[in-house]
Amino acid sequence: MIFTVAIDGPAAAGKGTISRAVAERFGLAHLDTGLLYRAVGARVDEGMEPVAAARTLTAGDLSRGDLRTLAAGQAASKVAAIPEVRLALVDFQRRFARRKGGAVLDGRDIGTVICPEAEVKLFVTAAPEVRAHRRWLEVGGDAAKVLAEVRERDARDMNRTDAPLRPADDAIMIDTSTLSIDEAVERACAAVAHRL
Ligand code: C5P
Repeated sequence: MIFTVAIDGPAAAGKGTISRAVAERFGLAHLDTGLLYRAVGARVDEGMEPVAAARTLTAGDLSRGDLRTLAAGQAASKVAAIPEVRLALVDFQRRFARRKGGAVLDGRDIGTVICPEAEVKLFVTAAPEVRAHRRWLEVGGDAAKVLAEVRERDARDMNRTDAPLRPADDAIMIDTSTLSIDEAVERACAAVAHRL
């Protein structure tokens, strides 16, 4: 079976949780594409040139433990604005999306650029304040700074010229601002079940 679920949306909207749950429920492979950009950003912070860092990315780079920090998110969104970096990561993502057995990919441009032919496209979003609060619960620190970082990253991701963050025309919108995790997961699973 070739079956792709594309899940896009801004930072801390619940994409990761929903993607993992959908993958588990339907027995699909899962790729968190944000990790690719985070790993490139981390290599660039260490002095590598961005396009070389993207072209020579290995599985080991994706499993390093320092990719979940706010700083890694910012580094990721900076390198993600470079068209040649995005291009270097396209093939891997497309092959993953069309692998046998089906796949869930979450990111910013899966339904619009990587896999416009995905059988299911979801756009998961929430109010910036809600997303910042969730992120703050994970990382702690200064809440105002976390909100500022969320807004800064949203602006960079939505305003870049190459593959900006936006819903595909045929995406199903899920606003998780007032939903529990279970409710959000059930909506996503219902959309997938409908197309299977
Ligand atoms: O989803 P996550 O927060 O891990 O993504 C980190 C950054 O990587 C995003 O802010 C975005 O700039 C970039 N990204 C992207 N396209 C994707 C996934 C992530 O541009 N498909």
